[in-house]
Amino acid sequence: MQAAPFKIGAAVGVNLLKNNSNYRNIISKEFSSVTTENTLKWQAVHPSKDVFDFSGGDVIAQFCSTNNKRMHGHCLVWYQSIPHWVQNFTGDSLAWEQLFKDHIQKVAAHYKGKATSWDVVNEAFHDEDGSLRVQDVNANDKKDDGCLWARHLGRNYIARAFIYAHEADPNAKLFYNDYGQESNDKKTDSIVAMAQNFKAKGVPINGLGIQMHININTSKEGIVKAFQKLAATGLLIHISELDISVNPKGDSTIQFTPALAQQQAAMFAFVVQQYKNIVPAAQQYGVTIWNVTDKDSWLRSFYKRKDWPVLFDDDYAKKPAYYSFKDALAE
Ligand code: XIL
Repeated sequence: MQAAPFKIGAAVGVNLLKNNSNYRNIISKEFSSVTTENTLKWQAVHPSKDVFDFSGGDVIAQFCSTNNKRMHGHCLVWYQSIPHWVQNFTGDSLAWEQLFKDHIQKVAAHYKGKATSWDVVNEAFHDEDGSLRVQDVNANDKKDDGCLWARHLGRNYIARAFIYAHEADPNAKLFYNDYGQESNDKKTDSIVAMAQNFKAKGVPINGLGIQMHININTSKEGIVKAFQKLAATGLLIHISELDISVNPKGDSTIQFTPALAQQQAAMFAFVVQQYKNIVPAAQQYGVTIWNVTDKDSWLRSFYKRKDWPVLFDDDYAKKPAYYSFKDALAE
């Protein structure tokens, strides 16, 4: 896939990268960009107040430098992966601002010249109506989908995150990243409005990430519409976390049949074809697949279901999706 017209990335788990040579070989051979899956999330990189743990990120940075891969850092600010010490932090708004700025700048500065780009802010908008995450609107799910940064720092925290990251590494390309944009117009519209506002005000944003955790039945029309809206901002567009579930409803009796493999292959090709057609070449930042083999896909562990969402199978072999994806890149 290295002959693609733009970078092809994988979300990489640092332990597999260190310990599993099959996994490492696929990345070296097939991918040209690496996203730090969990290693640079707050919980992992800044586990207590005065401790920054760059050990995992440094392994990935070294791998990227030795193997000539682009390193994409993920993610400086998110409403999830917040350690207890941050949740329990007490201080006035200035103290919160300092904590936020210090985190962004220490992490971005450490990878200056190593990480080409960053997801600066991840998933800041609610699913339902595309409004900014502030308070929890899903209290019944026991899942806090509000955002403590918006609560403590005010609604303009996103712009300041970009400004702080840019100060720490003026050369890094800075992205806003979110999911569900292909199925929720309102979220996409909020993101586009934010991007236009940032451009008008000179807030240093370079790109938008559309995660695309989709499935074989995702609306094609929705995908096309999202690419059109995002491309119209003129910013770089990164398909940042692509996976295509064949079992979104979590059927426990499902088998990965050749028919499902074909449907998935067709959807991978469709995504690449539309990205190439709709997003102007100068804005194509690349396509990153969220994980390397089906075995290490987060969908299995996170949602505890059977699934086969990526390009390589449990035995590190290329799936039909690999070939159709590669062919679509070359078309
Ligand atoms: C996922 C990881 O892949 C899992 O290992 C972890 O348990 C949870 O997070 N959107 C994002 C990613 O921006 O950070 C998430 O990654 C997947 C959804």
